[in-house]
Amino acid sequence: MPPSRRGALPPGAKGPPSQDSQAPCAPPAAHVIESRSAAETWALGERLAGALGPGLVVALVGALGTGKTVFAKGIVAGLSATQEATSPSFSLVNVYEAAFPVYHLDFYRLAREEDAESLGLRDYLDGHGVVLVEWADRIPGSLPEDRLEVTLARTGDETRTLTFRGFGPRAERTLSLLAGD
Ligand SMILES: Nc1ncnc2c1ncn2[C@@H]1O[C@H](COP(=O)(O)OP(=O)(O)OP(=O)(O)O)[C@@H](O)[C@H]1O
Ligand SMILES: [Mg+2]
Repeated sequence: MPPSRRGALPPGAKGPPSQDSQAPCAPPAAHVIESRSAAETWALGERLAGALGPGLVVALVGALGTGKTVFAKGIVAGLSATQEATSPSFSLVNVYEAAFPVYHLDFYRLAREEDAESLGLRDYLDGHGVVLVEWADRIPGSLPEDRLEVTLARTGDETRTLTFRGFGPRAERTLSLLAGD
């Protein structure tokens, strides 16, 4: 997707937070996986889906066009949702029905914690579904501390790195399940 689709940030929008606000003590171990194509990133999402359960929050972090939506689409497909995922760039939130609900949000256009609240974030975080949040780092502190963070970075036209970090026991268990596949 060309970056121009995004448009200007709303007034008061902040850039990404410093690492310090994410890591009060030692940062969790990082698991880095390389992807050589969009299909591989999708497949990684599908694989992660097998380790996900209701209540887990997946924070997707990375610059424009790094593959956050591709990865989320793989997760939604892997959870056998009835519909194929689309980008929530404009809708801000898409809801899919799988064995449990999947809430796919995009914080890019949001500036403050209240904006996330007005999207109904509190309801999505009630533990009944999986919550996928693109541009999660736009609003530091809006997501629970126990979350799985996946940071995507572009390393070439077709290549990306995906860095997985479990911030909390639930997210760490999910990562061990993934590693045990
Ligand atoms: N290895 C790869 N993994 C993921 N996407 C890739 C890869 N190689 C190329 N691409 C391309 O990069 C683009 C990623 O688009 P995508 O919409 O998923 O990014 P995004 O991070 O969600 O962007 P945005 O911040 O605008 O929401 C797609 O066009 C995809 O085909
Ligand atoms: Mg996207």
